[in-house]
Amino acid sequence: MNHFVSANDVNSIQLLVNQALAYKSNPFADAQLGKGKRIGLLFLNPSLRTRLSTQVAASNLGMEAIVFNVDKEGWALEFEEGVIMNGNTVEHIKDAAPVLGQYFDILAIRTFPSLKNKDVDYSEQLMHQFIKYAGVPIVSLESATLHPLQSLTDIITIQESLLANPIQHKKPKVVLTWAPHIKPLPQCVANSFAQWVNAWGEADFVVTHPKGYELSETYTKGATIQYDQAAALENADFVYVKNWSSFHAYGQMLSHDEAWMLTQQTMMQTNQAKLMHCLPVRRNVELSDELLDGSNSLVTRQAGNRVWAAQAVLANILHQQKQLI
Ligand code: CP
Repeated sequence: MNHFVSANDVNSIQLLVNQALAYKSNPFADAQLGKGKRIGLLFLNPSLRTRLSTQVAASNLGMEAIVFNVDKEGWALEFEEGVIMNGNTVEHIKDAAPVLGQYFDILAIRTFPSLKNKDVDYSEQLMHQFIKYAGVPIVSLESATLHPLQSLTDIITIQESLLANPIQHKKPKVVLTWAPHIKPLPQCVANSFAQWVNAWGEADFVVTHPKGYELSETYTKGATIQYDQAAALENADFVYVKNWSSFHAYGQMLSHDEAWMLTQQTMMQTNQAKLMHCLPVRRNVELSDELLDGSNSLVTRQAGNRVWAAQAVLANILHQQKQLI
């Protein structure tokens, strides 16, 4: 693995999931692998889970992790090619990225979309410029359109749950459902979950949302799309709850329909489904307290598994670097 910015960077999702679960059983199995190596974690947006789980993962591999909150502590970066820099930006990514590449063996970056210009956001300009100019492997800690470490974690969590409670004679039914929110959110987690579940190929995958919230077909192709949430949830084994803003009416909130909030009542038609959410979650807006606090909720385990996902990805990159020496 050279870079990790999407499911397309992974040869075998199942192998990566297995490796992550092996690290969960034996966190320090490769405690020497990252000795003498350093990862830079660059944040242009806030984080709790991604930041800390990646630091723990690096530590388990013997790596040093240095966090840099670029948005608060760095120079304002410019990403446009050929621009006349007579505005507010101070340093071009063409200059900053190669410098960062001198300091770190791996760079990991979090950036959110503007939700104002679909073409700019979906071009993933920032991630691609880091890949072009840094000269070291780039790991996405969530980008304008995708959140691959989260999605890998989500599949690890589904796999782990299936190992403990196997489903006989069929693939698990996994439903991604839109939920209400108070403000427009990126499509990243939903896009990414769809991309990874489709690439994994081990689930009967359904996406449900109100009309107007269709995600990019680049990611959902192969999934069943249903506008009737109750029908979609029927016999579901896993329900992933997430809000996203409209992709087609880019960045807009089209519906505040509270009926889409997940409750014990709406979960009645599922197959006693396990409940998933990437966190942070707006309680009693996206889904109810009773579900989050209930025995079928996987959300805390899911967040815990972020460590093993990050560890498996970093280990793959470190192995690749060793082979190149
Ligand atoms: N799920 C997730 O990415 O959490 P953070 O935003 O806290 O990192």
